[in-house]
Amino acid sequence: MRYHLAPLYCRPWTLNGISPRLIESHYENNYGAALNRLNAISEEIEQLDLGKTSDQSLARLKRDEIAALNSTLLHELYFASLGGDGRVLPDAFASAIAKDFGSVDRWRQEFVGIANGLAGGSGWVLLTYVPRDGRLINQIASDHDPSIAGGVPILALDMYEHAYHLEFGANASAYIAAFMRNIDWSAVKLRYEDAIKVAPPRPLEQKQFADVPSISVEEVREMLKSGTSVQIIDTRPKHYTTKAQDIMDGAVWRDPERLDEWIGTLSKTEPVVTFCVYGFHIGCETASTLRKAGFDARYMSGGHFAWKAIKGPVRLFE
Ligand SMILES: [Fe+2]
Repeated sequence: MRYHLAPLYCRPWTLNGISPRLIESHYENNYGAALNRLNAISEEIEQLDLGKTSDQSLARLKRDEIAALNSTLLHELYFASLGGDGRVLPDAFASAIAKDFGSVDRWRQEFVGIANGLAGGSGWVLLTYVPRDGRLINQIASDHDPSIAGGVPILALDMYEHAYHLEFGANASAYIAAFMRNIDWSAVKLRYEDAIKVAPPRPLEQKQFADVPSISVEEVREMLKSGTSVQIIDTRPKHYTTKAQDIMDGAVWRDPERLDEWIGTLSKTEPVVTFCVYGFHIGCETASTLRKAGFDARYMSGGHFAWKAIKGPVRLFE
C-alpha cells in the first residue's frame, strides 16, 4: 500500500493570526514526515518474511504504523478544519452541538479547556461523531492513543508543540484562540452530514421474535428504582438453574416448561417482564405466550447476564 499526499485544504494567506510560514512548515515538515514514515513502515511490513520475524517486531511495526497513519489522517483533518471565521455555526449544526453538549458555549468551553489541558504536552483535541450513539463527543487523541473505535472525527486541533511553537512560543492559549478564530464551520458541518450517514453497529436481530416487545436492563432497573409494580419472571431452563448461583433481585424463577401451571398466578393488571440466560430464546418465547394470553409482557433483552453486567442487584438462588 502506498499512501498519497493530500494537498493543503485551507488557504494559508486567508488565516487570521496564523501565518502562512507556520502552516507551510507544519505541512511540509510534520504532515509530510508522517506520510513518508507511514509509507516506509508500510513497505517494511509488506517485505517482512513473516516466518522469520519475531512477533514482537511485528507488533512494534504495527504500533508504529498506527501512529504514522493517525498522524497523517489527523493532520489532513487539521488543515481542513481551518479557513473560516470561527464565529457562526450553521443553524442545523449548532442544534446538533447544543443537543449533545447542552449549548454551543458549553461545547466551546470544554473543547478549549481540553486543549489548554494539553498545553506543554502533546496530543490532539477532536470533535468526533460516534455512530453507535448517534452523538458528538470531544476527545483527546495522541499517536499511541488512537481515535474512538468507529468514531468519525470532524474537527481537529493539533496540540503538539510543532503546531505552534515557531510562532506562538510557549503561549499555547494564544494559539488555541487563533485556531478557534479560524475554524471553517461550513466544512465541519459538511463532514458532520457525511458522518451521520455512517450506520451504527448492527444490533442483535431475532426475526422470529420481531413482534415481541423487549425492555432493556436499564429500563427495568429504572422501573424498580421508581417503585413501579412489575412482575419479573426468571425463566432460565431448569437444567441451567441447577448450577445457577444467583438470581436477579426482585425476580421469581418459574420453570418455562410448566408455564401452564403458573400462568394463573400472574396479574393481568401489572406488567410482566420475562428473561432467560442471555435473552435469546426462552425469555422471548415466554413473553410471546403471555402476550397471546392477554398479559402486558415484555422480555428483558440480554437476560440474566445483561442484568449482571450493569451490576443489577442479585441474591442467592436457592
Ligand atoms: Fe502537527
